[in-house]
Amino acid sequence: MINNLITVEKMKVLILYDSFFGNTEKIAEYIKETLEEEHDVNLIKAGDFKEADFANVEFLIIGSPTRAFRPTKDITNILNKYPIAIKELKTAVFDTRIDYNTIKPKTLSSIMKRSGYAAEKINKRLTKIGSDIIASPEGFYVEDSEGPLEKGEKEKAQRWLLGIF
Ligand SMILES: Cc1cc2nc3c(=O)[nH]c(=O)nc-3n(C[C@H](O)[C@H](O)[C@H](O)COP(=O)(O)O)c2cc1C
Repeated sequence: MINNLITVEKMKVLILYDSFFGNTEKIAEYIKETLEEEHDVNLIKAGDFKEADFANVEFLIIGSPTRAFRPTKDITNILNKYPIAIKELKTAVFDTRIDYNTIKPKTLSSIMKRSGYAAEKINKRLTKIGSDIIASPEGFYVEDSEGPLEKGEKEKAQRWLLGIF
């Protein structure tokens, strides 16, 4: 179930992301820039994360590249290691991905369609953990494995955030 976040109060937000080629990082940085006008926002790469980074956090945004239909190992490890802390948080998830419709051959495109993307996998885990999921998982498209992000993805991030706040 998705609950709307209706608040005018300043929140402590943690954006926890991973990135190999910088595309997920770009979206994460854009989200940070947008939210920090009104909120207290921390941006941390999964490999640098420490438990203490959860201190006083109310809203956790997780962003991961899709790698072999899943989130990265560093993101998965954090989800596995800190379910008790994460359960207490409002959460929202995004990933970066390649649009399966653009993939040739068709057999690979079908496998990608069937196997899904990182954000939905993380969201499933968050549902099991029992965190308060406040947005639908969102995917941002890259043109190729190393990027760049497709045109319009920043605006999509803007719309995604407007749906949350
Ligand atoms: C080893 C590898 C596996 C990948 N697997 C997938 C996949 O299963 N589905 C998909 O949509 N994109 C896949 N991609 C493309 C990534 O999603 C893309 O590299 C990523 O979004 C870029 O984000 P980053 O710049 O933050 O690393 C893969 C890329 C690599 C290098």
